[in-house]
Amino acid sequence: SRSIRSFSTSPSFSIQKITIYGAGLMGAGITQVAAQNGLNVTMVDVSDEAVQKGKKIIDASLTRVAKRIHKDDEKKRTEFVENAWKNISTSTDSSAAAVDADLLVEAIVEKMDVKQKLFSQLDKIAKKSAIFASNTSSLTISEIAKATSREENFAGLHFFNPVPQMKLVEVIRTDKTSNDTYEKLMDVTKKMQKTPVTCKDTPGFIVNRLLVPYILESIRLVERGEATHEDVDTAMKLGAGMPMGPFELADFVGLYTLKFIADGWRQGGKIDAHLVAPIKTLDDLVARNHLGRKTGKGFYSYS
Ligand code: 3HC
Repeated sequence: SRSIRSFSTSPSFSIQKITIYGAGLMGAGITQVAAQNGLNVTMVDVSDEAVQKGKKIIDASLTRVAKRIHKDDEKKRTEFVENAWKNISTSTDSSAAAVDADLLVEAIVEKMDVKQKLFSQLDKIAKKSAIFASNTSSLTISEIAKATSREENFAGLHFFNPVPQMKLVEVIRTDKTSNDTYEKLMDVTKKMQKTPVTCKDTPGFIVNRLLVPYILESIRLVERGEATHEDVDTAMKLGAGMPMGPFELADFVGLYTLKFIADGWRQGGKIDAHLVAPIKTLDDLVARNHLGRKTGKGFYSYS
């Protein structure tokens, strides 16, 4: 069972109010871990339906975490969930939610123009001192930051799915990110009981830069007929200690996302093209809308 760890944060710690843009799996997860750890957080999305969906994700996940932490104590479980909800508000008004935030985190659709448009709008409303961060996994942070007048207050803050369970956060510094911004983000990450690592603004940062070519090479191995995808998964779980095999992970991350990242990197030309060369199996699955867990079928079938 997990114990509650306490992290020391620097005396200058100043992020209290966070606004999260996007109530999808990532946005909801970030909202939850912030709230669970005493930060005041507002989750924003464009429609009430989207916000309601995000709240459902948080509710299910909070219940799960409560069960884990306070196994045999129903009162404490209820208290834990209620206390987290006390720190969460929601909104569909992106501007109003920006006004008094110390940190604004974006976890919306992976489209450069949409992200730039949002940040450019928020730039005019948010406090001068407020920090902007993107949870993008496939786009260049410095390019998003260019849409604002606060490139020194801009960085990447990259969480992993499932956010409440995965302990890592990548803090991405661009050439313009200030030390103060960087240190505040390291602090807030620790306050959320996550372990931060630091990376430059390079394709895939650390985790995806290694994970995506590994998954793609697994698909090629099976395409060449060298082993079945079930055996590759068993091999990597039992022989390399991975919690999920590469095909289970591909279905978990989503095959559209995987292809989108690989295609984007290839077109961007910043990483060796052979690492992200097109793969027929992947392209075919995506064309047939077999995108993994979210559509019920990918490399595996899900009921
Ligand atoms: N919310 C809260 N807790 C959750 C959760 C959620 N959504 N999902 C899982 N958990 C917790 C469970 O409560 C359980 O806790 P316990 O062990 O303390 O009781 C624990 O996680 C394990 O869950 P399960 O027993 O249900 O299932 P597994 O043991 O199979 O673990 C897994 C599930 C945590 C998803 C594990 O398989 C895993 O770590 N897989 C790898 C995930 C991974 O690599 N993620 C990164 C993907 S890349 C990415 O996100 C980057 C993006 O940019 C593409």
